[in-house]
Amino acid sequence: MCSISDDIRYATIIIPTYNEAKNIRILLSKIKELIDSRRLCKGIELIIVDDDSPDKTWFEALQTLKESLNSDIRLIVIRRIGLKGLSTAIVDGMKFSKGENIVVMDADLQHPPEYISDIIAKLKFSDIAIATRYRGGQIEEWSFIRLIISKIATLIAKILLPETRRLSDPMSGFFAVKRSVLTSCLDKLNPRGFKILLEILVKCRYNSVSEVPYTFRKRIHGKSKLGIKQYIDFLVHVLKLSSWRPFKFTAVGALGTLVNLAILKLLLILNVDFRISSALAIELSTLHNFALHEKWTFADRSKGSVIERIVRCFKFHLAVLPALLTQYVVAQTLNIFLALEPLIAQFIGIVMGFIVNYTLSELGVWKPRKTIEFIS
Ligand code: GDD
Ligand code: MN
Repeated sequence: MCSISDDIRYATIIIPTYNEAKNIRILLSKIKELIDSRRLCKGIELIIVDDDSPDKTWFEALQTLKESLNSDIRLIVIRRIGLKGLSTAIVDGMKFSKGENIVVMDADLQHPPEYISDIIAKLKFSDIAIATRYRGGQIEEWSFIRLIISKIATLIAKILLPETRRLSDPMSGFFAVKRSVLTSCLDKLNPRGFKILLEILVKCRYNSVSEVPYTFRKRIHGKSKLGIKQYIDFLVHVLKLSSWRPFKFTAVGALGTLVNLAILKLLLILNVDFRISSALAIELSTLHNFALHEKWTFADRSKGSVIERIVRCFKFHLAVLPALLTQYVVAQTLNIFLALEPLIAQFIGIVMGFIVNYTLSELGVWKPRKTIEFIS
């Protein structure tokens, strides 16, 4: 209801489009209906960012504007020629926006416009408001495969990016942010693929996030642009946002193995018994790995007193044990039940053990310093 329009002030809705000619017409008329029925307040700015769609979505948007010229809506259509990408289109839209609150949504009606005002209203109590398909929300129609991929992608993001951990749908493309949040980071935003929200959650400054459950609708017209390229973009994007942490972790682990072997060799030359030299090599290489993770892999989270460092070092040792166990159990299982070659089984075991070690280090050893309030 528009009684709260004073608080809401001017809002911008950014809608990226690619081949959505049919949908954009319906969406714009629905938004107009919402304003007419006062379920969305006046003073809305709509920014459509189209990447020169072959079906002329940009033209369709302008036509609709002409037909229903309405002083309550300020409509900007950006036609990007020679540029392509959902997230970069949104960033370009943000650069043009004037609103105090900025809403981002898809054009294909999978994000129902009826929720816009609820999402904006949440910005009264939080800096970012995310429409979620999961915590109380729903998905009208999705294949099992797409659901699994979405869940795995969410899990990867939650492991690598602590800012996403308390959120049920950090992959959402339907959300709102306060302008002040964007001012803190707009120049730094350099996303790839579809997940602009991840970029904002990691790079911008904010104190609180809230969620609004919604039903992700079935697409009626046109088709999804999500494909292999976007999945790869997602992985690269998340790795980049994590400052390539898993790669650093792997490099340290590989170096640690060499250190382990070198120490063992040295001790054997010094005639130290293998039972002792092996144990010493394992412990010294674990300490070596810990030191490098402190200085490099997790440099951004490694500050603190000597006591805190010692506690972390102890926890890191604890994180190594389940990894070794995983490696052993996976290797044996693959060898016994799938008759895999011992070397291949061992290698897969190493990879699984690495994932366990990395996850425990992320979640349990080097905890992030930044705390974000989650408002339910
Ligand atoms: N400008 C521009 N450029 N827009 C694009 C591009 C592009 O290269 N690719 C896609 N879009 C637009 C589409 O026209 C649509 O309005 C919106 O971005 C979402 O694209 P879809 O192809 O419909 O994606 P989806 O439905 O599979 O996934 C979407 O919804 C998810 C759930 O909210 C995306 O927004 C995901 O990021 C989101 O998680
Ligand atoms: Mn869609």
